[in-house]
Amino acid sequence: MRLAIGSDHAGVGLKAQVRSHLEALGHDVTDVGPHDTTSVDYPDYAHQVTGLLAEGGVDRGILICGTGQGMAMSANKAPGIRAAVVADTFSAAMAMQHNDARVLCFGERIVGPGLALALVDAWLGAEFEGGRHARRVGKIEGTG
Ligand code: RB5
Repeated sequence: MRLAIGSDHAGVGLKAQVRSHLEALGHDVTDVGPHDTTSVDYPDYAHQVTGLLAEGGVDRGILICGTGQGMAMSANKAPGIRAAVVADTFSAAMAMQHNDARVLCFGERIVGPGLALALVDAWLGAEFEGGRHARRVGKIEGTG
């Protein structure tokens, strides 16, 4: 799968671990940064990832900040993009199965590396179920 990953300074350490995990699984990963812990603004990185999704350059995106909240708020401003903040594997899978959330967000200050990789695996292993869920997602987007 083609994935874009981004963070802010509060998520850069966990981003590196998630990126390594994705690459070890054979995914094509675009890391939009940052690459050190200099303080940055999370919307700048969220918008880079949603831009790649909108262009069709990647299939899904992962955004990591301190809590995941600011990243999700930023990503959800992009038309047609649904970003979910998760801290449990059930929600991570359901965010894809029922909500077609192509952006996964979590916080380095919330989840440890073991759970973070499990969140990613649960979400990557899930597919959108369509059907009644497509109708509901259409209503979120104002197209249904
Ligand atoms: C940075 O201090 C922090 O505000 C940011 O990483 C994120 O948690 C915001 O939602």
